Amino acid sequence: MLSWDDFETKPQQPEKAVKAQTAAEPQAKSVQEPSASYSAETPASSTTKNGSAAVEAARAAVASLDPAPGLEELEMGAARIQVDEKRIINCRADLNQLVPFKYDWAWQKYLDGCANHWMPQEINMNKDVSMWKDPNGLTEDERRIVEYSLGYFSTADSLVANNLVLAIYRHITNPECRQYLLRQSFEEAIHTHAYQYCVESLGMDEGEVFNMYREVPAVAKKAAWSLSHTQAIGDPNFKTGTVESDQELLRNLIAFYAVTEGIFFYCGFSQILSMGRRNKMTGVAEQFQYILRDESMHLNFGIDVINQIKLENPHLWTAEFQQEVTQMILEGMELEVAYARDTMPRGVLGMNANMMEEYLQFIANRRLSQLGLKEQFPGAQNPFPWMSEIMDLRKEKNFFETRVIEYQTGGALQW
Ligand SMILES: [Fe+2]
Ligand SMILES: [Fe+2]
Repeated sequence: MLSWDDFETKPQQPEKAVKAQTAAEPQAKSVQEPSASYSAETPASSTTKNGSAAVEAARAAVASLDPAPGLEELEMGAARIQVDEKRIINCRADLNQLVPFKYDWAWQKYLDGCANHWMPQEINMNKDVSMWKDPNGLTEDERRIVEYSLGYFSTADSLVANNLVLAIYRHITNPECRQYLLRQSFEEAIHTHAYQYCVESLGMDEGEVFNMYREVPAVAKKAAWSLSHTQAIGDPNFKTGTVESDQELLRNLIAFYAVTEGIFFYCGFSQILSMGRRNKMTGVAEQFQYILRDESMHLNFGIDVINQIKLENPHLWTAEFQQEVTQMILEGMELEVAYARDTMPRGVLGMNANMMEEYLQFIANRRLSQLGLKEQFPGAQNPFPWMSEIMDLRKEKNFFETRVIEYQTGGALQW
């Protein structure tokens, strides 16, 4: 058994050498002009005498370590960060210093995301398994909705996660926003896990479900549209800093936050949540409800980031660019309407494709106005008022706050 006494042996060195260096050179100077005095001043201690060539090599490497190269791209390499220096993109201040905060909303969303932590295995899937295996459990149209939803979402969250980690993360030059991006990335992993957990629990054909984004046109088109907006930013040579490249980054953020997470998720979510409200596939629906809570936060974070970039870089938001963004939102809506028609050839679960089209017009209006653009479907109404309880901005906050409290005290989700 370990005892604290085992750890009492004092280190035999290198206190003297480190002390000598610290006293001789102030910290800022040592960052800019690393001293080679460590190895020169370090006496041949007993460790060295008894040490191997590997120890000598490690010591020599540490002695010659120059901390400056990692900081040289920063204008304020060794200085403390001032809040006014922080910017969402093209910031040259040290990104490793989280505080002082400039964008409190980003940090608050990070905290809220952490407070909402959940895992797919916490949700009981037993009733779903019996219903899925019972030949009379669901109609053919209802089964189709479950299959398409899992087919689209099982890969969509990977597309979002890959875009976050491989494309946008390095171009968002603000540490509190990056902190949220890291939290969001983990949530996307949990979502992919949740879909995999549903597919596995129901005993579905995994290959068929996970390859649907290549095989089924209505699913494949949405995935292809999202992927087409990753490519430019994902290029290792891509750099922000010009009007063209900064607009390209905005395109990516709009494509993923406002369209992929802000439009492409809405038909599938409404269908599955409607199923849960009818006491069908309640485990799958509960998974989707937890995911939706996370997604509402992702969407709002993305809108805040886009609007903050606009505020800090008004020259990017030209009339021509606004027109292009409006078209992107409309393209997203068209693709989602096509998905609705494919997944609902007939009325099902109290909804049909025409109602979904109106709902998507209502959602497209919301995305446009959130981005400060003109609504394109005047008077479009929400035909699914119960979805407002979960998704609408004003209610969303309510929903979010109550669910956070309920979840933290172990309460179940309510329909
Ligand atoms: Fe997600
Ligand atoms: Fe998301």
